[in-house]
Amino acid sequence: MKKAHVFQYILVTILAVGFFGCKPADDGDVIKIGEFASLTGREATFGQSSHAGTALAIEEINAQGGVLGKKLVLITQDDQSKAGEPATVVRKLISRDKVVAVLGEVASSRSLEAAPICQNAKIPMISPSSTNPKVTETGDYIFRVCFIDPFQGTVMANFATKTLKLKNVAVLTDVKSDYSVGLAKFFKETFVQSGGKIGSEASYSGGDRDFKAQLTTIKAANPEGIFIPGYYTEVGLIAQQARQLGITVPLFGGDGWESSKLVEIGGQAIEGAYFSTHYSPEQQTQQSVQFVEKYKAKYNSLPDAMAALGYESALILADAIKRAGSTEGSKIRDALAATRDFEGVTGKTNIDENRNAEKPAVILTIKNGEFKYVETVEP
Ligand code: PHE
Repeated sequence: MKKAHVFQYILVTILAVGFFGCKPADDGDVIKIGEFASLTGREATFGQSSHAGTALAIEEINAQGGVLGKKLVLITQDDQSKAGEPATVVRKLISRDKVVAVLGEVASSRSLEAAPICQNAKIPMISPSSTNPKVTETGDYIFRVCFIDPFQGTVMANFATKTLKLKNVAVLTDVKSDYSVGLAKFFKETFVQSGGKIGSEASYSGGDRDFKAQLTTIKAANPEGIFIPGYYTEVGLIAQQARQLGITVPLFGGDGWESSKLVEIGGQAIEGAYFSTHYSPEQQTQQSVQFVEKYKAKYNSLPDAMAALGYESALILADAIKRAGSTEGSKIRDALAATRDFEGVTGKTNIDENRNAEKPAVILTIKNGEFKYVETVEP
């Protein structure tokens, strides 16, 4: 290297160090929010919808000037719908990215995996849509902005007895999923209390593709309906195989059914089935109408329950950080716990003493390949 070049090199280095040195990692100027979601894998539509809602909320908050005079930065990690990944990616969000709070997940088992990590780090976590009671029982830093499965199970048991007028049903549970096991249990409790009979019970493991053995056993018991508290991929296949085996009775389930893929996989077999969830874009409240407009403008599609709850989780977090006046974990935690009457897209959020929200459930049916609103059930 010639002398002049060496000099130039040193000068450039000094300038570069000086420039980047004055503007260190954005930490001081922004507030980092972590998100973990199943953007790929078996429940990809859950993570994609939830993330779409969350990202829309962050964008809106920033357009209005951010929080505490700072912009929010959303750092999203894909857990690939895989057990083991939530723990890994949430550890990264906390220790490497230094997020002040964590949003996620949709699936209860994956929220349950990350919750102890957030709890131990004293970083508040808000699950937008995990409904298993154990999620928030993990500790006082773990919140959710949706109803829980004792309520959802009751809603569907009442729907089975009162609307579908069923007296004898079969239940087909995913034993690998905390959500499925819990929802099956809560459904059965109420259904039996109301005088119904669980004539047949069978199980599978998430990821299975052949359900003929279970369905053959169920068919032999001659139930009047089948309750399937599972996720859309398996539910779609179960519906297909049930109809192939000549089972014609009504199929019904919970929020885990909600995905455009349900209809793609289930096709004609899923027509006329019913499920409970948190939201329908057909809801005519002012919040919902505005949300649908903004969501459509950004994504050119209609929001589902996960999108609505993802959106709400970010708005509720931003509101709590504002009220806390600080990004300290314990202060955000206290402000989240004090959330009252937050008017959102899925209804009013009141965080109760168990860090859950009481909200209405919505029952949808599948008609001509589309989800149609049937009714709202108040808590
Ligand atoms: N409630 C489900 C669970 O806890 C997840 C889910 C929420 C799925 C909303 C669809 C819609 O696992």
